[in-house]
Amino acid sequence: MIERLGIVGGGQMGAGIAEVAARAGSSVLVMEVNADLAERSLSRLTTSLDRAVSKGKLPESDRDSTLGRITYTTHLGDFGDRQLAIEAVTEDEGLKLDIFRSLDRAMPADAILASNTSSIPITRLAAATERPESVVGMHFFNPVPVMGLMELVTTVRTDAPIADAAEAYGSDVLGKTVIRAKDRGGFIVNMLLVPYLVGGIRMLEQGVATREDIDAGMRLGANHPMGPLELSDYIGLDTMKLVADVLFEEFKEAMYASPPLLSRMVEAGLLGRKTGAGFYDYPA
Ligand code: 3HC
Repeated sequence: MIERLGIVGGGQMGAGIAEVAARAGSSVLVMEVNADLAERSLSRLTTSLDRAVSKGKLPESDRDSTLGRITYTTHLGDFGDRQLAIEAVTEDEGLKLDIFRSLDRAMPADAILASNTSSIPITRLAAATERPESVVGMHFFNPVPVMGLMELVTTVRTDAPIADAAEAYGSDVLGKTVIRAKDRGGFIVNMLLVPYLVGGIRMLEQGVATREDIDAGMRLGANHPMGPLELSDYIGLDTMKLVADVLFEEFKEAMYASPPLLSRMVEAGLLGRKTGAGFYDYPA
């Protein structure tokens, strides 16, 4: 059974995975590039735990024991006792390849290497290591403490017992429903979700309706918690464009192509909630 988890990157996704894993009893070591970012990550995580305490969903003593299971480092070399590493850094292929090479050197021979990537082929990351049979995708959804799903992505090289162990960790320990997908652009969820979101952006661009009416349409007419433009802002328009580009590159179908409006907004730095403005404004 996996008890010692390493997470590379303590941003929104990494901190969310760390929180869920530590609440479930795992020892969690998070790697960040410097002390400032590690502090910011811990503060994000503590705020989320405090919110659970104030809502009566987590006893105060459990918050403290959860925090006691999380440590930060700035060196991947400290991952020598980890049984599973989940990489959750920004969607930069060169950076991820470097991290996988370093993890491969630092981690025990029987450890599993996973990526939370939504756009980069797992096969490519696996090929950067000497243990492609032990590499999988473990794709979580934002906000990780709320969303009940984990996609498990296997490649043609993944060993079945490795995939089973990663699935067991996702379901039995983290409490997520695990669905399995092959290593194809978008896996299951983004392959269906991204053309829908891109369709909402195209609809706005064509002037078919206002942003408010497009979002209200899907919130009230299809019972989605957010409309496509709100959800795009929530995911981040840079991430949206990256995934759309990967899908287009993979399948060459027009429905995946990034609409010019999305491309221009990304170029203008309007990335959604994280920059304070996207399709909507988010005052600090
Ligand atoms: N961390 C922990 N808990 C959170 C949270 C966070 N960041 N954000 C919200 N919550 C909890 C709240 O505490 C609340 O819990 P409660 O019902 O037990 O009190 C519950 O979620 C609902 O939150 P709120 O009442 O504050 O707000 P909403 O009802 O508006 O819900 C939402 C917010 C959960 C984000 C909801 O709007 C939602 O589900 N939106 C869709 C999210 C989605 O589709 N995510 C997937 C994106 S795609 C992706 O991640 C893949 C990538 O590869 C692109």
